[in-house]
Amino acid sequence: MAERQVLFLSGAHGEALAVERAEGAYLYTRDGRKLLDGSGGAIVVNIGQGRSELADLARAQLLDLNYVLPLWVSPARERLVARLARWTPAGIDRFFFTSGGSESVESALKFAFLYHRVRGNSGKTKVISRDLSYHGNTLGALSASGNRARRADFEHVLFDWPRIPPSYCYRCPWGRSYPGCGLECAQALERVIAQHGAERIAAFIAEPMVGASGGVLPPVPEYWPRIAEICRRNDIVLIADEVMTGFGRTGKRFAVEHWGVMPDIIVGGKGLTGGYVPMGMIAVGERLFEVCEQAKADFMFFTYSAHPLACAIADRVLEIMEREQLVEHAAAIGSHLGARLNAELGGHPMTGEIRGAGLFWGVEIVADRAARRPFAPALHAARKVLSAAMERGLILYPAAGMAGVGGGDAIMIAPPFVIGEAEVEFIAATLRQCFDTVRRTLPSA
Ligand SMILES: Cc1ncc(COP(=O)(O)O)c(C=O)c1O
Repeated sequence: MAERQVLFLSGAHGEALAVERAEGAYLYTRDGRKLLDGSGGAIVVNIGQGRSELADLARAQLLDLNYVLPLWVSPARERLVARLARWTPAGIDRFFFTSGGSESVESALKFAFLYHRVRGNSGKTKVISRDLSYHGNTLGALSASGNRARRADFEHVLFDWPRIPPSYCYRCPWGRSYPGCGLECAQALERVIAQHGAERIAAFIAEPMVGASGGVLPPVPEYWPRIAEICRRNDIVLIADEVMTGFGRTGKRFAVEHWGVMPDIIVGGKGLTGGYVPMGMIAVGERLFEVCEQAKADFMFFTYSAHPLACAIADRVLEIMEREQLVEHAAAIGSHLGARLNAELGGHPMTGEIRGAGLFWGVEIVADRAARRPFAPALHAARKVLSAAMERGLILYPAAGMAGVGGGDAIMIAPPFVIGEAEVEFIAATLRQCFDTVRRTLPSA
């Protein structure tokens, strides 16, 4: 079997699809099926697939210039940087480019350490992050990740950094309810800083809305402003990991805009190029950058940093989003999708909570709605819903483990921004059928 030689898949995502081609939001398989990609791959394909203008651009770029030392400038990089500066919040407009999300998180962490070191604070060596988080596959990024399953085999070599619970009212670890909760989830940051000493903490990193580790967890409105204030007061670099949420996914260009929060560093990947070529980036705030620049600090590049092809594609992907007003469309069609999910699934006995924004939705599923009791992990409830959806022509993304050691299952719905009402109807109606079918096969309350 040829695929045995190249894949490490455990089968966690079910059948390995043989995908031959794609167009817009649809995939076409070797065995003749047409599937709606309801999660844009790993929540990557924001502008849809198969755009010929990007293929033409790629050809032209490769003929002009296919590689340049990252220290030098290329016209494609100049264009991208100018455009990105209009996308990121004002004052966060110094960029460093990588080949993906993990490298970008790694770079953000390194930049935070560097920023403190050049100011004589070499003791700031720890990073605070959150449970139910994923920041990437490399050792630094995985050390900051709270995703139990993905850490499990590597715990023994990861950095020993502290974590706090995320803002997740449905399963509040303090058993409190919003808004009378005193925002324990944000205060937890204050407590952990005091415990370790602010002089030891370099950065706090979090996803503005948790992605695949929680099944989409938007925080309460006061959460991010409070977190930002705590970080600022303690001289801690605030890193917003927008690898999944960035570039329009939540209906804003960056998710931090929902709360008007200014992080020190924004991390991006996925939607930056929409899956056309690999690329990630960090956007660093002027304040941090100037300190490092004045100290003449060096920051080693990756061989493929600011690759001309990636820069050209990213610039055009962002231009397409502007031209077609895809972020605005994601906000509008996304709120319709949310309403339809609520209408079809809101009262279903298997639905725990429906949450999200823009085209970033999660449905947590439970065995017992009243008790919020998850299905036993061995039942693989989310995977069963995914398989049922796949049989009906719909691809979705799983999330598991948000209920702690007791399990927890959620389905993520994050289609490309080019979907219309027909796709929304199909997703909502198909999920309803899948919930009905799967519930009959699972032991419940
Ligand atoms: C929030 C977040 N950060 C970082 C990463 C890692 O990105 P990559 O897989 O491109 O290395 C991911 C991947 O899913 C992610 O969702």
